[in-house]
Amino acid sequence: MINYILIILSFFLFFKQLVADEDLDKGKVIAENICSVCHGVNGQANTGGNSVLVPHLTAQNEFYLIEKLKDYKSKKLEHHQMSLIADMLSVDDIKNVSKWYSSIKIEIEDIEK
Ligand code: HEC
Repeated sequence: MINYILIILSFFLFFKQLVADEDLDKGKVIAENICSVCHGVNGQANTGGNSVLVPHLTAQNEFYLIEKLKDYKSKKLEHHQMSLIADMLSVDDIKNVSKWYSSIKIEIEDIEK
C-alpha cells in the first residue's frame, strides 16, 4: 500500500515540476518578446536609452511583481508605458513572467567587509 502512495506521490511531484518548468518557459518568451526592450531579458534595465527610469526586475519577489502588474492592468497604478503593456497581458501571462524574473538568482555582496 505504501508503495502505491509513494508512486502516486512521485508522479504528482514530477507532473507539478513539469507544469512549473512550462510556466517558466512561457514567462521567458514574454520577457524576450515584450519586456526585454526596457527591462532586459535578465531583468537588468541597462539596455534602453531611458534606463534610469526603468527599474531592475531581477530576483524581485514573485508576488510583488504579480501585484504591480495587476495594479497597472486595473489602472490602480497608471504609467504611460506600463499600463499599456500590462493591458496586453492575461493573468496567466502576468504569473508566468513574474515567475521568470523572480527565478533569476543574484548574489548580494556584503558592503561592510
Ligand atoms: C517601453 C518600456 C517598457 C516595457 C516594454 C516594459 N516595461 Fe515595465 N516598466 C517600465 C517603466 C518606465 C517602469 C517604471 C514605471 C513607473 O515609474 O511607475 C516599469 C515598471 C515595471 C514594474 C514595476 C516595478 C516596481 O518595482 O515598481 C514591473 C513589475 C514591470 N515594469 C514589469 C514589466 C514586464 C513584466 C514587462 C513585459 C511584459 C514590462 N515591464 C515591459 C518600462 C517598460
